[in-house]
Amino acid sequence: MGIKMIVLNTPEDVGSFAADLFELEIKARPACVLGLATGSTPLPLYRQLVARCKEGRIDFSRVRTFNLDEYEGLAPDHPQSYRRFMQENLFDHINIKPENTHVPDGLAADPEAMFADYERQIADCGGVDVQLLGIGHDGHIGFNEPGEAFELGTHCVDLKPETIEANKRFFEGNEDLVPKQAYTMGIKTIMQARKVLMVANGKDKAEIVKKAFFGPVTPEVPASILQMHPDFILVGDEEALSLI
Ligand code: PGA
Repeated sequence: MGIKMIVLNTPEDVGSFAADLFELEIKARPACVLGLATGSTPLPLYRQLVARCKEGRIDFSRVRTFNLDEYEGLAPDHPQSYRRFMQENLFDHINIKPENTHVPDGLAADPEAMFADYERQIADCGGVDVQLLGIGHDGHIGFNEPGEAFELGTHCVDLKPETIEANKRFFEGNEDLVPKQAYTMGIKTIMQARKVLMVANGKDKAEIVKKAFFGPVTPEVPASILQMHPDFILVGDEEALSLI
């Protein structure tokens, strides 16, 4: 137990550090299982992974991936779906096999069956080796919003008004277009990963980073549970870690 924290100068440095960690993991375990995240914070990491794959430094041909979450009701090719985000920012540019990439199905006819299947597929791959996470301003990880039970696996959540507000910028600024529910790995799923890597950048994350990792462990701050993870590493820029 114990949190490792790395403070770096810029978001680009955070991306490079995270890419080093992924590169080491893939070289040590070519068929490793990566848990991936969307959002703006992982983008420098994904740019690095694409560049390193093109240079022949990283081989994704045997890597398996599972994304944290997806909006309910969005088709894989919807401009704001997380599947599309992953294709455009990572999968389309690296030598990963499409069948080895997994994102919860926003259009699942039977969501409960899809959740069980997602958990089973992760287990069949031997579990997640490294789980990447961002952190929301309210402390959410994946779409696990404040108040969520810690013991849930992949499930459906109602998005909080603040999350809808924060994400409407991607939906023509119109909150009516933002899905009101999402499918997400649960805290239990996330905590089962062997290693968890959180990336955080910017002044606007400083307050929640302090609360999550120097405050009590509580469902009101979902990320705080990571204090209990045996191999958790927080990598952030100076601004995000400025209050700790
Ligand atoms: P961000 O999102 O990387 O775009 O800040 C983080 C999150 O909400 O998990």
